[in-house]
Amino acid sequence: MTQLPDLYRIDNFIDTFALGHYARVLDAMDRRTGQSIAFKVMRPEHIDADGDMRWEYRAFGNEAQILTRLWHSPNVVKLYDCGYISDLAEAPRKGEIVSFQNNIRGFVETMAQYAEVGWRPYLALENLPRHNSLFYLMKPNRPNQRWRLPSEEGLSLAVQFSDLLSLAHSYRIVYLDHKLEHVYWDGINLKVIDFNSSRQLNDDRGEVPGQYSKDVHNLCVGVLYTIFTGMSPQQTSLRPQPSSRDAVEARYTDIEHLDFSEEGSLSDGICDLLQHGAAQQIETIQEFINGLQRVAAQHGWDFPNYYTTDASRQAREQTRSGLQRLRLGHENLREARDLFREALIQDGITPDLEDELRRLVLVINEMLNQRALP
Ligand SMILES: Nc1ncnc2c1ncn2[C@@H]1O[C@H](COP(=O)(O)OP(=O)(O)O)[C@@H](O)[C@H]1O
Ligand SMILES: [Mg+2]
Repeated sequence: MTQLPDLYRIDNFIDTFALGHYARVLDAMDRRTGQSIAFKVMRPEHIDADGDMRWEYRAFGNEAQILTRLWHSPNVVKLYDCGYISDLAEAPRKGEIVSFQNNIRGFVETMAQYAEVGWRPYLALENLPRHNSLFYLMKPNRPNQRWRLPSEEGLSLAVQFSDLLSLAHSYRIVYLDHKLEHVYWDGINLKVIDFNSSRQLNDDRGEVPGQYSKDVHNLCVGVLYTIFTGMSPQQTSLRPQPSSRDAVEARYTDIEHLDFSEEGSLSDGICDLLQHGAAQQIETIQEFINGLQRVAAQHGWDFPNYYTTDASRQAREQTRSGLQRLRLGHENLREARDLFREALIQDGITPDLEDELRRLVLVINEMLNQRALP
C-alpha cells in the first residue's frame, strides 16, 4: 500500500484565478523524479454516493487517453502520471494512492472499480507558469482597459494552434474547449491544457464533419478573437467561462458575428479570416490554415504557397527582435519595481527613503499599465 505523501508532496492550489468544473489543481512535487508537476484531481463533489461513475469521473479517463495520443505535439501539456487517491479533502495530503504512470489502459480499465470504493482520479501534468496563462495575462487591472497581442505574436499563436488541431483532427479528435484559461503563451511557444471536454469522434454517428468546423469556429471565437482584440466574444469584460459539459457545448453556438469596430488598427485579413470561422464558413482545419497563411504572408511571413516581399520579410525580422526586447523591458521593469517594493518594507529606513521608494513604485506601475504587450 502506497501513501500519497510517499509519491507526491502536495503544495498550494494553482487554479484559483480560473477554477475548472471538473478538477482542483495543485502545485506538487513528484518525489520519484524531483520534478515539479501540476496535480489535477477530481473535485470531491463529483464522487457519487452510490459508487457510480459520473460524467466528470469518466472525463479523467478521456483526458488521459487524448493527452497520450497527442503526446508528440509540442503544443499539448505533457501527462506524466495518472491514478487514484483515497483522500477526499479538497486539497488532498494523506491516504492511499495507486499510480499507473504511463499505463493509461490500466487507469481506464479500473475506473469503475475505484469509483465504487469512492476513490478519486488524478492526473500529474507538466506544470505551466501562471504568468504564461493568457487569461491571467490579458485580464486588465483597470476598468475599460484591454490588452491585445501584437499581430506577429497572434499569428504565431494561431499557426501553432492550427498545427495542433490539424494533428488532433487527423486522429479524429476535436478539442472544443477553446478559452483563454486553457492557453499558455510565453511570446514564442504555445501550450494548451484541459482535454477532458475534447472528443474522440466515432465515424459511425455521421457527426464528424460538423465537429471539425465547430472546432475551427470555437478557436476563432473563443481564443483568436480575444487575443487580437482584448475583448470577449460575448461583449462582456474578460471573465472565466463556464465549463461543464453542456456549457462547453453551448458556449459559442450563438456567436456568428465578431465585432472588430473597437480595434480599427487590426488588419482586414485577420478580421475577415476570424469572421469566416465564426460564421462557420470554414469547414476544415486545412482550409483555415490556408487562409491563415495567406494573411500571414501580408505580415511578412513566408510559406511554400504564399510568400511575402523582401522588404516585409526584413520588417518582420525587425518586429520580432523589437518584441523580444519589449518583453525583456517589461520583465526588467517588474523586477525593478519588486526591488523598490522590498526595500520599502524594510524596518528602520528613513522617511526620506520611504517616500522616494513609494514614488518609484507608483511611476513604474503607471508605466506597466500603459505597456504595449499583455
Ligand atoms: N498543467 C497545468 N499547469 C498549471 N496550471 C494548470 C495546469 N492545468 C490546470 N491548471 C490550472 O487549473 C485550472 C483548472 O484546470 P483545468 O484543466 O481547466 O480543469 P477543469 O477540467 O476542471 O476545467 C486552469 O484554468 C489553470 O488555471
Ligand atoms: Mg478547464
